[in-house]
Amino acid sequence: MRVLGIETSCDETGVALFDSEHGLLADALHSQTDLHAVYGGVVPELASRDHVRRLLPLIEQIFTEAGLRRGDVDAIAYTAGPGLIGALMVGASTAHGLARAWQVPVLGVHHMEGHLLAPMLEETRPEFPFVALLVSGGHTQLVEVRGIGCYRLLGESVDDAAGEAFDKTARMLELPYPGGPHVSRLAEQGNPERFRFPRPMTDRPGLDFSFSGLKTHTLTTLRQLQAAHGVNEQDRADVARAFEEAVIDTLVIKCRRALEQTGLTRLVAAGGVSANQRLRQRLEAALAKRGAGVWYPRGRFCTDNGAMIAYAGTQRLLAGERDPGPMRAVARWPL
Ligand code: KG4
Ligand code: ZN
Repeated sequence: MRVLGIETSCDETGVALFDSEHGLLADALHSQTDLHAVYGGVVPELASRDHVRRLLPLIEQIFTEAGLRRGDVDAIAYTAGPGLIGALMVGASTAHGLARAWQVPVLGVHHMEGHLLAPMLEETRPEFPFVALLVSGGHTQLVEVRGIGCYRLLGESVDDAAGEAFDKTARMLELPYPGGPHVSRLAEQGNPERFRFPRPMTDRPGLDFSFSGLKTHTLTTLRQLQAAHGVNEQDRADVARAFEEAVIDTLVIKCRRALEQTGLTRLVAAGGVSANQRLRQRLEAALAKRGAGVWYPRGRFCTDNGAMIAYAGTQRLLAGERDPGPMRAVARWPL
């Protein structure tokens, strides 16, 4: 089965062609980062309008790259949620319009299912069951994955997502949006011994997260430095490092706990924050000690992309799932 995948839930227009026998045939992405950077975050109306502009040319581009003619697919998959409602509607309506024109089935898929299955696009893939750590700008979740569609939420953030905390910390450190990679780069110059930020919710049982207190801690530290002698470059790097260490430690502790509780030995880390190199090193070291392994998508499939939607959609379409009626676009949708 050959499937066109469409992702427009936030600020990336992503498309891909996935073949259940031959794997990924082509994929393309247009990131709107530059469009939103001046506002310090995603402006939903601008995001929707840009998806409208980019989506069809990107689809034409991947058909050309794959050497296929328009309509040479067996089905279409699109992100139906969660995400920005206007942005989702662009992908959903395009998918349904093309499906009607090409007379093929169409299916809306869950954005986070796309993320947690993204490592399946790699040559070495994890076997089921595994625990998935989903860390993006909108979500921080631990999920027990027994198979396609067999998901049990083990824990999630009760306030800010890990990526959101990175983005807010970046703003405090006067770094550009999206902040994760910038905070991480600055943290490389930082001294990990100078400040110790709290590891929220690690001293009590359970697998939930909380990152909003950490953000406040960052702000308080910067204010204290400002009042004492002004904030210099080294101070900023030390604060970035302390923040990053605290987030990573917290994530690693909870991943270890999730594997203990479920008795599983495989971890998948996906979503934008899973691109963080120090997080990867620390997860690998911690899990190796327990005889467990960790899998990730390649760098460009950690953040939002069309390939993960094409893959997740293909699995469900192969099982016979279809949108029963009109297009679906849902801002909030539990996994
Ligand atoms: O999965 P994603 O592309 O979009 C959502 O579905 O939210 O994740 C984007 C998030 C942003 O908050 C960004 O700052 C964060 O992932 N991110 C990182 C890194 N790369 C992206 N955070 C920490 N370290 C990174 N290297
Ligand atoms: Zn995402």
